[in-house]
Amino acid sequence: MKKLENKIALITGATSGIGESCAELLASEGAAVILTGRNKERGTAVANRICGQGKTAVFIQCDVTKEQEILALKNRVIKEFGKLDILINNAGILITNKLEDITEEEWQQTYDVNVKGYFFMTRHFIGMLQESNGVIVNDASVTGLPTFVQGAASYMYSSSKAAVIQFTKLCAKNYAKEVRINCICPGIVDTPIYTNRDFSRFDGKIPMGRVAQPEEIAKAVLFLVSDDASYITGVALPIDGGMAI
Ligand SMILES: NC(=O)c1ccc[n+]([C@@H]2O[C@H](COP(=O)([O-])OP(=O)(O)OC[C@H]3O[C@@H](n4cnc5c(N)ncnc54)[C@H](OP(=O)(O)O)[C@@H]3O)[C@@H](O)[C@H]2O)c1
Repeated sequence: MKKLENKIALITGATSGIGESCAELLASEGAAVILTGRNKERGTAVANRICGQGKTAVFIQCDVTKEQEILALKNRVIKEFGKLDILINNAGILITNKLEDITEEEWQQTYDVNVKGYFFMTRHFIGMLQESNGVIVNDASVTGLPTFVQGAASYMYSSSKAAVIQFTKLCAKNYAKEVRINCICPGIVDTPIYTNRDFSRFDGKIPMGRVAQPEEIAKAVLFLVSDDASYITGVALPIDGGMAI
C-alpha cells in the first residue's frame, strides 16, 4: 500500500528544484499531484514526465503573488479534483543584497512571493483542507530560524523565511483540530535558485560537509504529509546537514 493513495496534493513552485522533487515523490506514493508555477513550459514538462510513469499529475499556471490567480487555481482544483488533502507552499525566490543597496522593488518582490504567496495560498485553501483533515507543509529555510544568524546579505530572504516559520506555528495552533501544519527549514540545496552552482563557497559551513539534493528534502516532506507524522504539527524541521546546530 502506498502512503498517499487517493490523496490530492497541490505544490507551488513545482516547475523546478525542491517542488519538482516533491511532486515526483508524492506522485510515486500514489497522490494525484497538482503542480503550479509561472513557467508553463517547464511545469507541463514535469507533469508530462510524471504522467509518463503512469502516475497522475497536472500543471496549472499560477503566480502566487496574484490573489486572482490563486482564486482561479482554487476553482480549477474544485472542478477537476473536488477536494484537496495536501498543500505544499514552496514557491520562493532568493534575492541577496547589501543593506545599503536593497531596493524597494527587491524587498517587495521577496515579500510578495515568500510571504504573501504563502499567506494567501493558505487563506484560500484552508477551508478545503479543514474538510479533508488535510496537511500543509511550508518551505521555510534554516536562515529563518531565530538561532541561525549567518549570511551577510540575506536580510530579505532570512526575514521572509522567519515570517513563514511564525505563520506556520500560528496556523498550526489555530487549526490543530483539523489540519496539521508544519514547515521545513532546508539548508543549502542544489537547485536553480542559486545562480552560482559552485557550492565550494560553503566549504566548512556545513557540518555534514556537503549540500543537499532536492530529493532529500522531498523525503522529509513526504514524511510530514503522510500518516507517519500523524501527531506532528507546528514544527520547523531543519533539513540542513547540521547547519542549524
Ligand atoms: N535551494 C535551497 O538551498 C533552499 C534552501 C532553503 C529553502 N529553500 C526554499 O525552497 C523553495 C524552492 O526553492 P528551490 O531551491 O527549489 O528553487 P527553484 O528551483 O528556483 O524553484 C523555485 C520555484 O518557485 C517558483 N516561483 C517563483 N516565483 C513564483 C511566483 N511568483 N509564483 C509561483 N511560483 C513561483 C518557480 O517557478 P516559476 O519560475 O515557474 O514560477 C520555481 O518552481 C523556496 O521557497 C526556497 O526559498 C531552498
